[in-house]
Amino acid sequence: MLSNPEIKAPLWLLAELTYRCPLQCPYCSNPLDFARSQEELTTAQWIEVFKQARAMGSVQLGFSGGEPLTRKDLPELIAAARGLGFYTNLITSGIGLTAKKLDLFAEAGLDHIQISFQASDETLNAALAGSKKAFAQKLEMAKAVKAHGYPMVLNFVLHRHNIDQIDRIIELCIELEADDVELATCQFYGWAQLNREGLLPTREQIAEAEKVVASYREKMSAAGNLTNLIFVTPDYYEERPKGCMGGWGAIFMNVTPDGKALPCHSARQLPIEFPSVLEQPLDDIWYNSFGFNRYRGYDWMPEPCRSCDEKEKDFGGCRCQAFMLTGNADNADPVCSKSAHHDKILEAREAANRCQTTIEQLQFRHQRNSELIFKTSV
Ligand code: FES
Repeated sequence: MLSNPEIKAPLWLLAELTYRCPLQCPYCSNPLDFARSQEELTTAQWIEVFKQARAMGSVQLGFSGGEPLTRKDLPELIAAARGLGFYTNLITSGIGLTAKKLDLFAEAGLDHIQISFQASDETLNAALAGSKKAFAQKLEMAKAVKAHGYPMVLNFVLHRHNIDQIDRIIELCIELEADDVELATCQFYGWAQLNREGLLPTREQIAEAEKVVASYREKMSAAGNLTNLIFVTPDYYEERPKGCMGGWGAIFMNVTPDGKALPCHSARQLPIEFPSVLEQPLDDIWYNSFGFNRYRGYDWMPEPCRSCDEKEKDFGGCRCQAFMLTGNADNADPVCSKSAHHDKILEAREAANRCQTTIEQLQFRHQRNSELIFKTSV
């Protein structure tokens, strides 16, 4: 087994089991051209990836997608991961979940389930997810998850079309007895980046939502309610970037449905050839591949990051965001006010103030749109 004292093991492995998904959220972080990649690792190939990751020291394994429930072998994969000693987490829309499947997952040893909602009411949920039945199914499954004794995380992706109903979202989470509630404002990758203008909330919307969350925290704590409200604001209203992924190739590894190993869920878009787990052992990929070493440490940094006294905190921000907004992933993340490209962020804030885009005008994440985008981009 390879190792390198200067590089820690990937503590967290995210297995994107499939790009198939019954929903079509316009803020999905999957790549725009997901329709090009229909290949999926087999059950045995995934289990081999888990074995190699565990041998390297990975401890947490997330099953995501697309919708991971579309994989019929999910109970087998969970059992294999649990047998290897992983803490296992299922990240799902809840569509396709049944009480019977929950029994199977419990038998397999699943530790944790996160269900995502689009909104606090059926109409908005249906408009965003592209499914009329989704909301009722999610409610039923959230109750079933609790009944099975899982600690439950409910996740709401917030954007300009649903952030004003944050009070009702929190009320719904209280009613469903969620243990943790993630109120995460959209991060702009994949389909969210494509729809950014129609999704980014205004600064006023964020400030109002923050007030509502603070008042609920107070009320809930006074009532002895231990639900943890996590509110994540968008970095578009910050002056310093986030330390994305805890640093490039530092603690996180993502494996795509067809076996590409990536340092983050979005790196596939970068002009870097990332290795496949079908062609190279995972430890060799992690420690030695060009892609994983490309932005490790600080030597790669140009100014203003190189001489910045915050570089050990934010690592120059997000490489994918730098690439999407400046065309060069070496640049400082434009979220940083020291970046020569910070005007891109200021323009996006201005555009949010002027935006008139309706939900119907957003580009939804489905096979046909992905094929259209791919055809027009080749
Ligand atoms: Fe790729 Fe931030 S999402 S480095």
